[in-house]
Amino acid sequence: MTIEGKYWLCILPAAGAVGVVAYMVVSKMKCGKDSVVNQSVMKDQEKVVHSYDMEDLADSVAFCRCWRSKKFPFCDGAHNAHNKLTGDNVGPLCLSKKSKGS
Ligand code: FES
Repeated sequence: MTIEGKYWLCILPAAGAVGVVAYMVVSKMKCGKDSVVNQSVMKDQEKVVHSYDMEDLADSVAFCRCWRSKKFPFCDGAHNAHNKLTGDNVGPLCLSKKSKGS
């Protein structure tokens, strides 16, 4: 074996380790603060906006904040699977009307 061959045998594990670390850093950056939140809701629209009159809502309603609900903008419980998969802690925004007596 030539000296050059020994050199490459020594440097290959280090180069591989650097490659793995670089891949992990780039992957982490892609999933960082700049990654897309909305994976599937109304992707053909420039902006997702829903408007409701308060009077038309039920006495209580839960709005999705994880963007995984099949009933978006309403919560369907999909946040539980998302949290379990990712370690996240998102949940719905729950609104309820005050009763007339209080
Ligand atoms: Fe998204 Fe519940 S499904 S917050």
